[in-house]
Amino acid sequence: MSAQKTQTLAIIGQGYVGLPLAMAAVRAGWSVIGVDNFEAKVSQINSGSSPVEDISDDQLQSAITNGRYRATTDFSAVSEASVITICVPTPLDERREPDLSLLRSAAKGIAPYISNETLVVSESTSYPGTLRDVIIPIINELKPKDSKYLYFASAPERVNPGDSIWNQRNTPRLVGALDLASNERALTFYKSICDYVVSVSTPEVAEAAKLLENTFRLVNIALINEFTQLCSANDINVHEVIDAASSKPYGFMPFRPGVGVGGHCIPVDPLYLTWWARTGGQVASLVECSDEISNEMPIYVAKRALALAKSSATPIKVLIMGVAYKPGVGDVRETPASALRAALLANGAEVAWMDPLVPHWEGTKPVDVTWTCDVAIVATNQPGLEIKPLLAKQIPVLDCTNHYGGLPGVELL
Ligand SMILES: NC(=O)c1ccc[n+]([C@@H]2O[C@H](COP(=O)([O-])OP(=O)(O)OC[C@H]3O[C@@H](n4cnc5c(N)ncnc54)[C@H](O)[C@@H]3O)[C@@H](O)[C@H]2O)c1
Repeated sequence: MSAQKTQTLAIIGQGYVGLPLAMAAVRAGWSVIGVDNFEAKVSQINSGSSPVEDISDDQLQSAITNGRYRATTDFSAVSEASVITICVPTPLDERREPDLSLLRSAAKGIAPYISNETLVVSESTSYPGTLRDVIIPIINELKPKDSKYLYFASAPERVNPGDSIWNQRNTPRLVGALDLASNERALTFYKSICDYVVSVSTPEVAEAAKLLENTFRLVNIALINEFTQLCSANDINVHEVIDAASSKPYGFMPFRPGVGVGGHCIPVDPLYLTWWARTGGQVASLVECSDEISNEMPIYVAKRALALAKSSATPIKVLIMGVAYKPGVGDVRETPASALRAALLANGAEVAWMDPLVPHWEGTKPVDVTWTCDVAIVATNQPGLEIKPLLAKQIPVLDCTNHYGGLPGVELL
Protein backbone atom coordinates (compact mmCIF):
# COMPACT_ATOMS: atom_id res chain seq x y z
CA MET A 1 0.00 0.00 0.00
CA SER A 2 1.42 3.41 -0.98
CA ALA A 3 2.30 5.96 1.72
CA GLN A 4 -0.37 8.29 0.36
CA LYS A 5 -3.00 5.58 0.53
CA THR A 6 -2.11 4.65 4.11
CA GLN A 7 -2.96 8.22 5.16
CA THR A 8 -6.17 8.46 3.14
CA LEU A 9 -9.51 8.10 4.86
CA ALA A 10 -12.86 7.81 3.08
CA ILE A 11 -15.98 8.68 5.05
CA ILE A 12 -19.39 7.61 3.77
CA GLY A 13 -22.02 10.18 4.78
CA GLN A 14 -21.11 13.83 5.33
CA GLY A 15 -23.61 14.82 7.97
CA TYR A 16 -23.50 15.59 11.69
CA VAL A 17 -21.17 12.63 12.24
CA GLY A 18 -19.20 12.33 9.01
CA LEU A 19 -18.17 15.95 8.47
CA PRO A 20 -16.82 16.59 12.00
CA LEU A 21 -14.94 13.28 11.72
CA ALA A 22 -13.51 14.44 8.40
CA MET A 23 -12.25 17.69 9.91
CA ALA A 24 -10.82 15.89 12.95
CA ALA A 25 -8.95 13.51 10.63
CA VAL A 26 -7.64 16.39 8.52
CA ARG A 27 -6.32 18.00 11.71
CA ALA A 28 -4.63 14.70 12.55
CA GLY A 29 -2.81 14.62 9.20
CA TRP A 30 -5.16 12.47 7.11
CA SER A 31 -6.25 13.20 3.57
CA VAL A 32 -10.00 12.76 3.59
CA ILE A 33 -12.53 11.93 0.90
CA GLY A 34 -16.09 12.56 1.99
CA VAL A 35 -18.52 10.41 0.01
CA ASP A 36 -22.20 11.34 0.11
CA ASN A 37 -25.01 10.33 -2.24
CA PHE A 38 -26.81 13.67 -1.84
CA GLU A 39 -25.45 15.70 -4.73
CA ALA A 40 -26.64 19.11 -3.49
CA LYS A 41 -24.89 18.57 -0.17
CA VAL A 42 -21.65 17.55 -1.88
CA SER A 43 -21.77 20.72 -4.01
CA GLN A 44 -22.49 22.86 -0.96
CA ILE A 45 -19.57 21.33 0.94
CA ASN A 46 -17.16 21.63 -1.99
CA SER A 47 -18.14 25.29 -2.33
CA GLY A 48 -16.88 25.77 1.23
CA SER A 49 -20.25 26.16 2.93
CA SER A 50 -20.63 23.88 5.94
CA PRO A 51 -24.02 22.20 6.44
CA VAL A 52 -23.15 21.40 10.07
CA GLU A 53 -23.14 24.03 12.87
CA ASP A 54 -20.06 22.61 14.61
CA ILE A 55 -17.89 22.99 11.50
CA SER A 56 -17.19 26.55 10.40
CA ASP A 57 -16.94 27.56 6.76
CA ASP A 58 -13.37 28.73 7.47
CA GLN A 59 -12.36 25.31 8.77
CA LEU A 60 -13.93 23.57 5.80
CA GLN A 61 -12.45 25.99 3.26
CA SER A 62 -8.97 25.65 4.71
CA ALA A 63 -9.16 21.82 4.50
CA ILE A 64 -10.31 22.07 0.87
CA THR A 65 -7.72 24.68 -0.10
CA ASN A 66 -4.91 22.67 1.48
CA GLY A 67 -5.91 19.72 -0.67
CA ARG A 68 -6.64 17.62 2.43
CA TYR A 69 -10.35 17.24 1.92
CA ARG A 70 -12.86 16.86 -0.87
CA ALA A 71 -16.44 15.67 -1.06
CA THR A 72 -17.76 13.49 -3.85
CA THR A 73 -20.75 11.41 -4.87
CA ASP A 74 -18.40 8.94 -6.56
CA PHE A 75 -18.09 5.76 -4.50
CA SER A 76 -15.13 4.54 -6.57
CA ALA A 77 -13.03 7.16 -4.73
CA VAL A 78 -12.90 4.80 -1.72
CA SER A 79 -10.33 2.74 -3.62
CA GLU A 80 -7.81 5.47 -2.67
CA ALA A 81 -8.33 4.88 1.06
CA SER A 82 -6.75 2.59 3.65
CA VAL A 83 -9.58 3.28 6.09
CA ILE A 84 -13.29 3.65 5.26
CA THR A 85 -15.77 4.73 7.90
CA ILE A 86 -19.52 4.46 7.36
CA CYS A 87 -21.49 7.33 8.93
CA VAL A 88 -24.93 7.12 7.33
CA PRO A 89 -28.29 7.49 9.09
CA THR A 90 -29.92 4.53 10.79
CA PRO A 91 -33.51 5.73 11.26
CA LEU A 92 -36.75 3.94 12.04
CA ASP A 93 -39.18 2.79 9.38
CA GLU A 94 -42.92 3.49 9.36
CA ARG A 95 -43.45 0.67 11.89
CA ARG A 96 -40.86 2.32 14.15
CA GLU A 97 -38.44 -0.53 13.56
CA PRO A 98 -34.77 -0.34 12.44
CA ASP A 99 -34.38 0.85 8.87
CA LEU A 100 -30.95 -0.23 7.68
CA SER A 101 -31.61 0.52 4.01
CA LEU A 102 -29.14 3.44 3.93
CA LEU A 103 -26.50 1.41 5.73
CA ARG A 104 -27.00 -1.46 3.29
CA SER A 105 -26.83 0.86 0.30
CA ALA A 106 -23.64 2.46 1.66
CA ALA A 107 -22.08 -1.00 2.07
CA LYS A 108 -23.18 -1.94 -1.47
CA GLY A 109 -21.85 1.37 -2.80
CA ILE A 110 -18.34 0.96 -1.43
CA ALA A 111 -17.93 -2.82 -1.73
CA PRO A 112 -16.84 -3.05 -5.41
CA TYR A 113 -14.10 -0.46 -4.86
CA ILE A 114 -12.52 -1.50 -1.57
CA SER A 115 -8.79 -2.09 -1.94
CA ASN A 116 -7.00 -5.03 -0.37
CA GLU A 117 -5.90 -4.47 3.26
CA THR A 118 -8.50 -1.75 3.89
CA LEU A 119 -10.06 -1.25 7.31
CA VAL A 120 -13.84 -0.75 7.18
CA VAL A 121 -15.47 0.73 10.26
CA SER A 122 -19.12 1.32 10.95
CA GLU A 123 -19.76 4.38 13.09
CA SER A 124 -23.52 4.31 12.52
CA THR A 125 -25.62 3.37 15.52
CA SER A 126 -27.36 0.01 15.22
CA TYR A 127 -28.27 -3.16 17.09
CA PRO A 128 -25.65 -5.78 18.01
CA GLY A 129 -24.77 -7.96 15.06
CA THR A 130 -25.13 -5.25 12.40
CA LEU A 131 -21.46 -5.22 11.44
CA ARG A 132 -21.08 -9.00 11.44
CA ASP A 133 -24.43 -10.04 9.98
CA VAL A 134 -25.39 -7.14 7.71
CA ILE A 135 -22.38 -5.10 6.59
CA ILE A 136 -19.66 -7.74 6.29
CA PRO A 137 -21.70 -10.23 4.20
CA ILE A 138 -22.60 -7.45 1.70
CA ILE A 139 -18.99 -6.36 1.39
CA ASN A 140 -17.62 -9.88 1.13
CA GLU A 141 -20.09 -10.70 -1.61
CA LEU A 142 -19.40 -7.61 -3.73
CA LYS A 143 -15.74 -6.77 -3.06
CA PRO A 144 -13.09 -7.06 -5.82
CA LYS A 145 -11.56 -10.53 -6.09
CA ASP A 146 -8.08 -9.29 -5.25
CA SER A 147 -9.24 -7.53 -2.06
CA LYS A 148 -8.52 -10.67 -0.09
CA TYR A 149 -7.70 -9.20 3.29
CA LEU A 150 -10.14 -6.70 4.71
CA TYR A 151 -10.42 -5.59 8.32
CA PHE A 152 -13.61 -4.66 10.14
CA ALA A 153 -14.63 -2.86 13.29
CA SER A 154 -17.56 -1.12 14.88
CA ALA A 155 -16.81 2.24 16.52
CA PRO A 156 -20.14 3.89 17.32
CA GLU A 157 -19.92 7.66 17.17
CA ARG A 158 -20.67 9.65 20.32
CA VAL A 159 -20.56 13.16 18.84
CA ASN A 160 -22.83 15.63 20.62
CA PRO A 161 -23.70 18.42 18.17
CA GLY A 162 -23.58 21.88 19.71
CA ASP A 163 -21.31 20.75 22.56
CA SER A 164 -18.43 23.17 23.07
CA ILE A 165 -16.55 20.87 25.49
CA TRP A 166 -16.74 17.33 24.16
CA ASN A 167 -15.47 16.68 20.65
CA GLN A 168 -13.84 14.02 18.49
CA ARG A 169 -10.49 14.49 20.21
CA ASN A 170 -11.45 14.31 23.88
CA THR A 171 -14.47 11.98 23.80
CA PRO A 172 -13.31 8.41 24.46
CA ARG A 173 -13.97 6.21 21.45
CA LEU A 174 -15.24 2.63 21.70
CA VAL A 175 -13.77 0.16 19.25
CA GLY A 176 -15.00 -3.41 18.83
CA ALA A 177 -13.10 -5.20 16.08
CA LEU A 178 -13.76 -8.45 14.30
CA ASP A 179 -10.36 -9.99 15.01
CA LEU A 180 -6.90 -9.12 16.32
CA ALA A 181 -5.59 -7.70 13.05
CA SER A 182 -8.69 -5.51 12.66
CA ASN A 183 -8.35 -4.39 16.26
CA GLU A 184 -4.73 -3.34 15.77
CA ARG A 185 -5.60 -1.29 12.69
CA ALA A 186 -8.71 0.26 14.22
CA LEU A 187 -6.80 1.29 17.35
CA THR A 188 -4.03 2.85 15.26
CA PHE A 189 -6.58 4.81 13.25
CA TYR A 190 -8.63 6.08 16.17
CA LYS A 191 -5.58 6.88 18.29
CA SER A 192 -4.54 9.25 15.52
CA ILE A 193 -7.69 11.35 15.93
CA CYS A 194 -8.75 10.71 19.48
CA ASP A 195 -7.02 10.93 22.90
CA TYR A 196 -8.75 7.92 24.47
CA VAL A 197 -9.63 4.72 22.67
CA VAL A 198 -11.41 1.95 24.55
CA SER A 199 -11.03 -1.45 22.96
CA VAL A 200 -13.80 -3.96 23.64
CA SER A 201 -13.81 -7.65 22.84
CA THR A 202 -16.29 -7.76 19.93
CA PRO A 203 -18.21 -5.45 17.57
CA GLU A 204 -21.39 -6.56 19.34
CA VAL A 205 -20.16 -5.17 22.68
CA ALA A 206 -19.47 -1.78 21.07
CA GLU A 207 -22.85 -1.79 19.29
CA ALA A 208 -24.69 -2.77 22.49
CA ALA A 209 -22.80 -0.15 24.53
CA LYS A 210 -24.02 2.59 22.22
CA LEU A 211 -27.61 1.42 22.63
CA LEU A 212 -27.15 1.27 26.39
CA GLU A 213 -25.81 4.84 26.52
CA ASN A 214 -28.77 6.31 24.70
CA THR A 215 -31.37 4.05 26.30
CA PHE A 216 -30.05 5.13 29.70
CA ARG A 217 -30.88 8.70 28.72
CA LEU A 218 -34.34 7.87 27.38
CA VAL A 219 -35.31 5.93 30.51
CA ASN A 220 -34.08 8.63 32.87
CA ILE A 221 -35.71 11.43 30.91
CA ALA A 222 -38.98 9.47 30.87
CA LEU A 223 -38.67 8.89 34.61
CA ILE A 224 -38.22 12.57 35.38
CA ASN A 225 -41.00 13.56 32.99
CA GLU A 226 -43.38 11.15 34.72
CA PHE A 227 -42.16 12.31 38.12
CA THR A 228 -42.77 15.93 37.08
CA GLN A 229 -46.40 15.17 36.31
CA LEU A 230 -46.84 13.52 39.71
CA CYS A 231 -45.24 16.47 41.51
CA SER A 232 -47.19 19.07 39.57
CA ALA A 233 -50.51 17.34 40.36
CA ASN A 234 -49.57 17.55 44.04
CA ASP A 235 -48.27 21.14 44.02
CA ILE A 236 -44.68 20.12 44.60
CA ASN A 237 -41.90 21.95 42.78
CA VAL A 238 -40.10 19.16 40.92
CA HIS A 239 -36.95 21.26 40.45
CA GLU A 240 -36.62 21.71 44.18
CA VAL A 241 -37.06 17.96 44.54
CA ILE A 242 -34.34 17.28 41.94
CA ASP A 243 -32.00 19.76 43.66
CA ALA A 244 -32.72 18.11 47.00
CA ALA A 245 -32.05 14.61 45.66
CA SER A 246 -28.87 15.88 44.01
CA SER A 247 -27.41 16.71 47.41
CA LYS A 248 -26.83 12.96 47.80
CA PRO A 249 -23.18 12.57 46.86
CA TYR A 250 -23.52 9.11 45.33
CA GLY A 251 -26.02 6.97 43.44
CA PHE A 252 -28.11 9.81 41.98
CA MET A 253 -27.78 11.69 38.72
CA PRO A 254 -30.07 14.67 38.03
CA PHE A 255 -32.21 14.80 34.90
CA ARG A 256 -34.58 17.70 34.22
CA PRO A 257 -38.04 17.57 32.66
CA GLY A 258 -38.61 18.77 29.12
CA VAL A 259 -41.01 18.56 26.20
CA GLY A 260 -39.73 15.11 25.33
CA VAL A 261 -36.79 13.59 23.50
CA GLY A 262 -35.63 14.47 20.00
CA GLY A 263 -32.92 14.16 17.42
CA HIS A 264 -31.45 11.25 15.60
CA CYS A 265 -30.45 9.28 18.66
CA ILE A 266 -32.43 9.28 21.92
CA PRO A 267 -35.90 8.66 20.45
CA VAL A 268 -34.53 6.19 17.89
CA ASP A 269 -31.74 4.07 19.32
CA PRO A 270 -33.78 2.59 22.20
CA LEU A 271 -36.21 1.25 19.60
CA TYR A 272 -33.32 -0.57 17.96
CA LEU A 273 -32.93 -2.20 21.36
CA THR A 274 -36.62 -3.07 21.76
CA TRP A 275 -36.69 -4.50 18.23
CA TRP A 276 -33.52 -6.50 18.87
CA ALA A 277 -35.06 -7.86 22.08
CA ARG A 278 -38.27 -8.86 20.30
CA THR A 279 -36.43 -10.63 17.50
CA GLY A 280 -34.74 -12.70 20.21
CA GLY A 281 -38.11 -13.54 21.80
CA GLN A 282 -37.70 -11.10 24.69
CA VAL A 283 -39.39 -7.87 25.69
CA ALA A 284 -37.54 -4.75 26.83
CA SER A 285 -40.60 -3.57 28.74
CA LEU A 286 -39.00 -0.72 30.70
CA VAL A 287 -37.67 0.76 27.47
CA GLU A 288 -41.01 0.38 25.69
CA CYS A 289 -42.78 2.08 28.58
CA SER A 290 -40.21 4.92 28.59
CA ASP A 291 -40.84 5.43 24.89
CA GLU A 292 -44.60 5.71 25.57
CA ILE A 293 -44.10 8.24 28.38
CA SER A 294 -41.81 10.29 26.12
CA ASN A 295 -44.35 10.31 23.33
CA GLU A 296 -47.07 11.51 25.69
CA MET A 297 -45.05 14.28 27.32
CA PRO A 298 -45.74 16.88 24.59
CA ILE A 299 -49.49 16.34 25.13
CA TYR A 300 -49.04 17.05 28.83
CA VAL A 301 -46.95 20.17 28.05
CA ALA A 302 -49.64 21.44 25.67
CA LYS A 303 -52.30 21.09 28.39
CA ARG A 304 -50.11 22.86 30.97
CA ALA A 305 -49.49 25.73 28.57
CA LEU A 306 -53.12 26.16 27.56
CA ALA A 307 -54.10 26.25 31.23
CA LEU A 308 -51.76 29.22 31.70
CA ALA A 309 -53.43 31.39 29.04
CA LYS A 310 -55.34 34.20 30.73
CA SER A 311 -57.44 35.12 27.73
CA SER A 312 -60.79 33.40 27.25
CA ALA A 313 -60.69 34.27 23.55
CA THR A 314 -60.64 31.39 21.11
CA PRO A 315 -58.54 30.19 19.55
CA ILE A 316 -55.85 30.55 22.21
CA LYS A 317 -52.70 31.81 20.49
CA VAL A 318 -49.56 29.94 21.48
CA LEU A 319 -45.97 30.80 20.59
CA ILE A 320 -43.46 27.92 20.66
CA MET A 321 -39.96 29.25 21.28
CA GLY A 322 -37.16 26.97 20.07
CA VAL A 323 -38.22 24.09 17.84
CA ALA A 324 -34.87 22.38 17.17
CA TYR A 325 -34.50 19.21 19.19
CA LYS A 326 -31.75 20.75 21.31
CA PRO A 327 -30.04 24.12 21.85
CA GLY A 328 -27.24 25.23 19.55
CA VAL A 329 -28.35 23.30 16.47
CA GLY A 330 -30.89 23.91 13.72
CA ASP A 331 -31.73 20.19 13.55
CA VAL A 332 -35.46 19.50 13.80
CA ARG A 333 -35.34 15.75 13.18
CA GLU A 334 -37.63 13.94 15.63
CA THR A 335 -38.03 17.17 17.59
CA PRO A 336 -40.67 16.84 20.31
CA ALA A 337 -41.81 20.33 19.28
CA SER A 338 -43.65 18.61 16.42
CA ALA A 339 -45.82 16.57 18.76
CA LEU A 340 -46.25 19.65 20.95
CA ARG A 341 -47.47 21.69 17.99
CA ALA A 342 -49.80 18.86 16.96
CA ALA A 343 -51.21 18.58 20.49
CA LEU A 344 -51.82 22.34 20.66
CA LEU A 345 -53.55 22.33 17.28
CA ALA A 346 -55.64 19.33 18.33
CA ASN A 347 -56.77 21.38 21.33
CA GLY A 348 -57.96 24.14 19.01
CA ALA A 349 -55.05 26.53 19.56
CA GLU A 350 -53.48 28.78 16.96
CA VAL A 351 -49.77 28.07 16.95
CA ALA A 352 -46.75 30.04 15.76
CA TRP A 353 -43.09 29.46 16.44
CA MET A 354 -39.70 31.08 16.44
CA ASP A 355 -36.18 29.68 16.47
CA PRO A 356 -33.08 31.69 15.57
CA LEU A 357 -31.44 28.60 14.04
CA VAL A 358 -34.40 27.21 12.09
CA PRO A 359 -35.47 29.14 8.95
CA HIS A 360 -38.53 27.00 8.17
CA TRP A 361 -40.26 24.08 9.78
CA GLU A 362 -43.17 21.80 8.87
CA GLY A 363 -43.98 23.96 5.86
CA THR A 364 -44.22 27.13 7.95
CA LYS A 365 -42.04 30.17 8.61
CA PRO A 366 -41.16 31.58 12.01
CA VAL A 367 -42.75 34.67 13.50
CA ASP A 368 -40.90 37.16 15.66
CA VAL A 369 -41.36 37.99 19.30
CA THR A 370 -43.87 40.75 18.46
CA TRP A 371 -46.43 38.12 17.39
CA THR A 372 -49.40 38.59 19.69
CA CYS A 373 -49.98 35.47 21.75
CA ASP A 374 -51.80 34.39 24.89
CA VAL A 375 -49.08 32.09 26.14
CA ALA A 376 -45.54 31.14 25.11
CA ILE A 377 -43.71 27.85 25.59
CA VAL A 378 -39.93 27.74 25.72
CA ALA A 379 -39.43 24.29 24.23
CA THR A 380 -35.70 24.56 23.42
CA ASN A 381 -33.45 27.22 24.88
CA GLN A 382 -31.86 28.33 21.63
CA PRO A 383 -29.13 30.94 21.83
CA GLY A 384 -30.67 34.27 20.81
CA LEU A 385 -34.18 33.63 22.18
CA GLU A 386 -35.57 36.65 24.02
CA ILE A 387 -38.43 36.11 26.43
CA LYS A 388 -38.30 39.49 28.19
CA PRO A 389 -40.45 41.30 25.55
CA LEU A 390 -43.18 38.72 26.24
CA LEU A 391 -42.95 39.15 29.98
CA ALA A 392 -43.10 42.94 29.55
CA LYS A 393 -46.46 42.40 27.84
CA GLN A 394 -47.50 40.10 30.74
CA ILE A 395 -47.75 37.08 28.49
CA PRO A 396 -47.36 33.94 30.61
CA VAL A 397 -44.43 31.71 29.68
CA LEU A 398 -44.14 27.98 30.32
CA ASP A 399 -40.41 27.26 30.43
CA CYS A 400 -39.66 23.61 29.64
CA THR A 401 -35.90 24.19 29.73
CA ASN A 402 -35.37 25.25 33.36
CA HIS A 403 -33.60 28.44 32.30
CA TYR A 404 -35.96 31.27 33.19
CA GLY A 405 -37.23 30.19 36.62
CA GLY A 406 -37.60 33.09 39.04
CA LEU A 407 -38.65 35.62 36.38
CA PRO A 408 -42.17 36.91 37.12
CA GLY A 409 -44.64 35.43 34.67
CA VAL A 410 -42.56 32.32 34.02
CA GLU A 411 -43.73 28.90 35.14
CA LEU A 412 -41.27 26.04 35.03
CA LEU A 413 -42.43 22.67 33.84
N1 LIG B 1 -26.26 13.28 14.87
C1 LIG B 1 -25.80 12.83 16.04
O1 LIG B 1 -25.79 13.57 17.02
C2 LIG B 1 -25.25 11.44 16.17
C3 LIG B 1 -24.48 11.12 17.29
C4 LIG B 1 -23.96 9.85 17.42
C5 LIG B 1 -24.27 8.89 16.45
N2 LIG B 1 -25.06 9.21 15.39
C6 LIG B 1 -25.32 8.17 14.41
O2 LIG B 1 -24.48 8.41 13.29
C7 LIG B 1 -25.12 8.01 12.07
C8 LIG B 1 -25.16 9.19 11.11
O3 LIG B 1 -25.96 10.22 11.65
P1 LIG B 1 -25.88 11.74 11.21
O4 LIG B 1 -26.57 12.51 12.27
O5 LIG B 1 -24.50 12.10 10.82
O6 LIG B 1 -26.78 11.71 9.91
P2 LIG B 1 -26.94 12.93 8.84
O7 LIG B 1 -28.28 12.77 8.26
O8 LIG B 1 -26.56 14.22 9.48
O9 LIG B 1 -25.84 12.62 7.75
C9 LIG B 1 -25.82 11.45 7.03
C10 LIG B 1 -25.34 11.72 5.63
O10 LIG B 1 -25.28 10.46 4.96
C11 LIG B 1 -25.72 10.65 3.61
N3 LIG B 1 -26.15 9.34 3.13
C12 LIG B 1 -27.29 8.67 3.40
N4 LIG B 1 -27.28 7.47 2.82
C13 LIG B 1 -26.12 7.38 2.15
C14 LIG B 1 -25.53 6.38 1.35
N5 LIG B 1 -26.15 5.23 1.14
N6 LIG B 1 -24.34 6.63 0.80
C15 LIG B 1 -23.70 7.80 1.01
N7 LIG B 1 -24.21 8.79 1.78
C16 LIG B 1 -25.40 8.57 2.33
C17 LIG B 1 -26.81 11.69 3.71
O11 LIG B 1 -26.98 12.36 2.47
C18 LIG B 1 -26.26 12.61 4.80
O12 LIG B 1 -25.52 13.67 4.25
C19 LIG B 1 -26.49 7.49 12.50
O13 LIG B 1 -26.40 6.10 12.70
C20 LIG B 1 -26.73 8.16 13.83
O14 LIG B 1 -27.60 7.45 14.65
C21 LIG B 1 -25.53 10.47 15.21
